[in-house]
Parts: sequence; structure tokens; C-alpha cells
Amino acid sequence: MLKVGKIDVFYGKFQALWDVSLNVGEREIVALIGPNGAGKTTTLRTITGILKPVQGKITFNGTELSKLPPHRIAKLGVAAVPEGRQLFEKMTVYENLLMGAYLRRKKDVEDSLEFVYQLFPRLKERRKQLAGTLSGGEQQMLAIARALMLKPSLLMVDEMSLGLMPKLVVTLFKVIERVREEGISILMVEQHVESVLRMADRGYLMEQGRIILEGTGEELLESEHVRKVYLGL
Ligand SMILES: Nc1ncnc2c1ncn2[C@@H]1O[C@H](COP(=O)(O)OP(=O)(O)OP(=O)(O)O)[C@@H](O)[C@H]1O
Ligand SMILES: [Mg+2]
Repeated sequence: MLKVGKIDVFYGKFQALWDVSLNVGEREIVALIGPNGAGKTTTLRTITGILKPVQGKITFNGTELSKLPPHRIAKLGVAAVPEGRQLFEKMTVYENLLMGAYLRRKKDVEDSLEFVYQLFPRLKERRKQLAGTLSGGEQQMLAIARALMLKPSLLMVDEMSLGLMPKLVVTLFKVIERVREEGISILMVEQHVESVLRMADRGYLMEQGRIILEGTGEELLESEHVRKVYLGL
């Protein structure tokens, strides 16, 4: 459904992505891994339309994204949970969730609200609390829930588990699998390389702005390079 084809992306004169190609199919969980500064966030920001590729193209269910502004891309069903969450801190949990659904018709929003409250009962309890006063873990739940309020067909998640305790990370990984059961495809950037490759159908390894390895989660887990550099084996 998502096809990123040979994109080059620059920040001014600095080239951050070189000839990057990746695909995400229907109901797939795809992992994008790699060291700090590899270009993972840049890749996601280019798919959401915040950055524009200089070369190459991106299509989503056949529609070319590379020339559309971010809100049009969102409307096609591409939602992102950004690195660092970027919540509206002075707004309540409930108001943040509504912001996630601002592109949708009012009457369609109720179902999604129920779905995210069922995924994260904690958010329902705290719906009147200001987002900025939530714990780090609760803020990450809200960031995921807000993205789901768009009722996306593709959810992209950047460093979901950063700074969270292991138990919560396990919970959020289960949430991701639950989201996939709803028919939503997932593209995940993740530092927990072993866990994400176990869960993912496929994965890509990016280094210095290039995809250097791709395969099923299993294949990547077994690759010598991944074992040595990312799993310390
Ligand atoms: N706004 C920017 N202006 C200039 N250079 C940038 C900008 N954002 C990122 N870069 C550079 O682009 C490269 C890729 O950064 P990116 O944030 O995509 O990496 P990443 O793989 O997400 O890393 P991390 O794991 O640390 O989040 C880095 O060299 C970074 O310094
Ligand atoms: Mg990043």
C-alpha cells in the first residue's frame, strides 16, 4: 500500500537520505531500525509530507504523496506518532484526542474514541487531565491514541518506547499488534531491535541515510551484521 521509491532527501545542502526504497503492505508490521542519525525520522517525516524528496517518489494506494501537503496525506489515512510525542500540553487528554480527529466528520469520531479508550483505559480515566501533566508513559499512550483518532490505514510510530519502563514497552507492543488486527498497517522506528524484529513481518536496516539490509524479521535477526552491531552477540 505504501511504496517509497528511491528517494533522496536534503536538509539544505546536507543529504540525509540516499536512494531509499521501502514498502509496507496491507496489514503488515514493518520495522525500520538503525543507529542514531541514520535517517529514520527523516524517512517518516518525508512520508508524512513535512519534507519533500528531491528525487524519487512515494505512493500510497496508488496516489502520489510526494507533491501533497501534510494535511492531504493525513486525510488519505496516513497517521504518525512523532518522535517526542508533540502533544498539546495545555489541552486535556480528550481535547488532544479530538485534535487527532479534526479532519473527520463529527459523527464518525465516537467509534474511534471508544476504540482508543478500550486500548488505553488509563486515558479514559484521565480524559479531563491536561496532557502536559501526564506521566511519560501516559503521554506516549495519548500520542498513539491521538494518531489512531484519524482512523488511519497506515500508522507510523517513531521511537515509541524511548524512556519507558520495560513493562510498559511490552504493553505498547501488544497494543501495536491489536491495532494491526483492526486492519491497520504499521511502520515502526524502534531502538528495541530484538523485540521489534520478533513482532515485525519485515524490516529494513538503515545506516548513514541508506537502506543497507532488508528482509523478514527473522532474516534480520539472524543476519550477522544485526547480531553483531545491534544485538551485541
Ligand atoms: N532539521 C534538520 N536540519 C539539518 N539536519 C538535520 C535535521 N534533522 C535531522 N538532520 C540530520 O539528518 C540526519 C538524519 O537524522 P534523523 O533524525 O532522520 O535520524 P534518526 O535515524 O531518526 O536518528 P535517531 O535514532 O537519533 O532519532 C542526521 O545527520 C541529522 O543530524
Ligand atoms: Mg529519529
